Amino acid sequence: MKAVILAGGEGTRLFPVTKLLNKHLLPIYDKPIIQYAVEKMISFGIKDVLIVSNPLYITHFKRLFVDEKRCSVSFVIQKEPKGIAQGLLLAKKFVGKDNVLFWLGDGIVEDDISRHIHNFTTGAKVFIKRVKDPERFGVATVNKKHHVLEIIEKPTEPKSNYAVTGIYLYDNTVFTKMKNQPPSARGEYEITYINNKYIEENTLKAVFLKKQWFDIGTFESLYKASTFLRKKFLKSQQVGKK
Ligand code: TTP
Repeated sequence: MKAVILAGGEGTRLFPVTKLLNKHLLPIYDKPIIQYAVEKMISFGIKDVLIVSNPLYITHFKRLFVDEKRCSVSFVIQKEPKGIAQGLLLAKKFVGKDNVLFWLGDGIVEDDISRHIHNFTTGAKVFIKRVKDPERFGVATVNKKHHVLEIIEKPTEPKSNYAVTGIYLYDNTVFTKMKNQPPSARGEYEITYINNKYIEENTLKAVFLKKQWFDIGTFESLYKASTFLRKKFLKSQQVGKK
């Protein structure tokens, strides 16, 4: 299993801060956001990680992981933020014949999903989380067998409360599914297109996350994630002292 972390984008909701610095390099309490993602990959036992980001910041990411010995971290440039699926396509050579854990780098997940990663063989999995405000996210409709029937981006009338979190497991057919993908109306290569291909084959399954999940898109979510991780850190310090 290879891991691809997407860490480009414009971060417009975090302007003006992200005019100066890539969102994934901003700190959440004691570490840059991207470091949480890479440490998650290490906790899953993944040995090969690729970070996809914009040209301006690749050197920053390289500097951050220069001494990382627990896994190999490599880098690819996405010249322009042309969509999440385009970011994945840039990882085609890196993934080779393997399966891929595809991770949007601005997500913070507390669940241990190692079991799903190690047991994954074919098709695709999408990790979903129950939220109060589904209209802000991609919303998944799932049947009793956990097959995903539909994902609708930011629906005005959501059919469920399950948000798509931006963590995906794809088998190697993902790259053939991208062949001839057209850009969407907003000019991006959407990940929904790929997920729909798996839905057509009835091979997209959902995994329900139970613990805390943060999607760091806004100042409010950045603040909430920092507060949560600070509390967790201080608690672990106290336990260590006992
Ligand atoms: P988004 O949150 O959709 O976009 P953004 O991070 O640019 O923020 P904003 O909406 O405020 O402008 O991106 C989700 C994740 O995917 C995030 O980690 C950035 C990454 N991404 C890329 O790496 N390349 C891309 O082309 C896009 C669209 C997103």
